Amino acid sequence: MDKFPLTFAIIKPHVVSNPVAFQRLQSIISDNKFEVIRSKQVKLTEPILAEFYGEHRDKFFYNRLITFMRSGETQALILHKIDAITSWRNLMGPTKVFKTLYSHPESLRGQFGLSDTRNACHGSDSVASVEKEVKIFFPDFNIHDWCTTSEFQAK
Ligand code: TYD
Ligand code: MG
Repeated sequence: MDKFPLTFAIIKPHVVSNPVAFQRLQSIISDNKFEVIRSKQVKLTEPILAEFYGEHRDKFFYNRLITFMRSGETQALILHKIDAITSWRNLMGPTKVFKTLYSHPESLRGQFGLSDTRNACHGSDSVASVEKEVKIFFPDFNIHDWCTTSEFQAK
């Protein structure tokens, strides 16, 4: 669907464990007109992460990524905005934090990222990823029902 109105995001452990950074990041979310549709704090487990990051299983950074994502609480979010997937990825900035230095210093990863792995947040990269990731974290939430119900139509 063009300009899909929902995306799935995770705020990573080093931000959630820092109350000032966590508060600032959440303010930026609302300042950028993302509406939080669902939100929950969750301590991720190895089986959930294996499913969530399955596409990266053979990458050199996989074990480091899983270890980090299990190291503390994360915040899982369903966000609403027109063209939410692209808007959120633009707000996050590039995956590799060093790339934010000159070109995206104001991005979330530019402000809150510490390294390629500790890059502050996750965002789905396609409608298929939103569907898969929402199902893992919010199994009771039906994306397509939501888009056609009054909850969305009223917006
Ligand atoms: P990826 O899906 O490529 O990036 P994005 O989060 O921007 O969609 O990678 C998933 C996560 O894996 C990324 O957020 C952090 C981690 N990662 C590393 O630790 N090192 C790397 O070199 C890459 C590419 C990713
Ligand atoms: Mg990705």
